[in-house]
Amino acid sequence: MTQLLIFAGSARQHSFNRQLAHAAAAMARAKGAEVTVLELSTLDIPLYNADLEAQGTPPDVIRLKEILDAHPAWIICSPEYNGSYTGLLKNTIDWASSPVKGHPVWADGSKPFTGKVVGLLSASNGALGGLRSLSHLNPLLLNLHCWVCPQQYALSRASAAFDATGQLQVEAQQVGVQAVVEQVLWAGKRLGA
Ligand SMILES: Cc1cc2nc3c(=O)[nH]c(=O)nc-3n(C[C@H](O)[C@H](O)[C@H](O)COP(=O)(O)O)c2cc1C
Repeated sequence: MTQLLIFAGSARQHSFNRQLAHAAAAMARAKGAEVTVLELSTLDIPLYNADLEAQGTPPDVIRLKEILDAHPAWIICSPEYNGSYTGLLKNTIDWASSPVKGHPVWADGSKPFTGKVVGLLSASNGALGGLRSLSHLNPLLLNLHCWVCPQQYALSRASAAFDATGQLQVEAQQVGVQAVVEQVLWAGKRLGA
């Protein structure tokens, strides 16, 4: 059974990307995956600062590394800010990839990332659905040696996309998200995730 981690790059209470994360999680569970939805807002992680890090890596950064490492496949739901991904997502990835000097497990900063199968989704109220954020997230993840799935989906007009139960209302949108979920699970199996 694939251990799949899903998280959104937004801490906003009514985040479209959080809703998308839960919709994708339901689809993956229906396909037999064991899914963890991680709320980044539950982690007490400051803005990255190497001086701060030199005083000791925050405990929740270690927790984040452990969660990422424990899941061989991920789906990231990325909001778009100014044509790119959010500061929250960048800060999270920067901390997670920063080596912990002298640590028996986390001295290698790439450990939580190398070999992960990653599916990308985005959601925005705009017509492009946050697609441009994914074009920036792609090379970042490849640089960290993730296997980024070619199937990606950007959910446009997100404020009207979900019904009261959090389901996507339009079939074409369901199909778009489902295709990403299925490819992540397929690639995860093929790569032994
Ligand atoms: C600083 C800032 C820049 C934004 N830039 C874009 C943008 O380039 N493209 C876009 O589609 N939406 C943009 N938005 C709108 C976000 O997509 C919108 O706030 C969305 O709800 C964020 O995702 P969330 O609902 O998951 O929090 C921007 C929002 C902010 C605060």
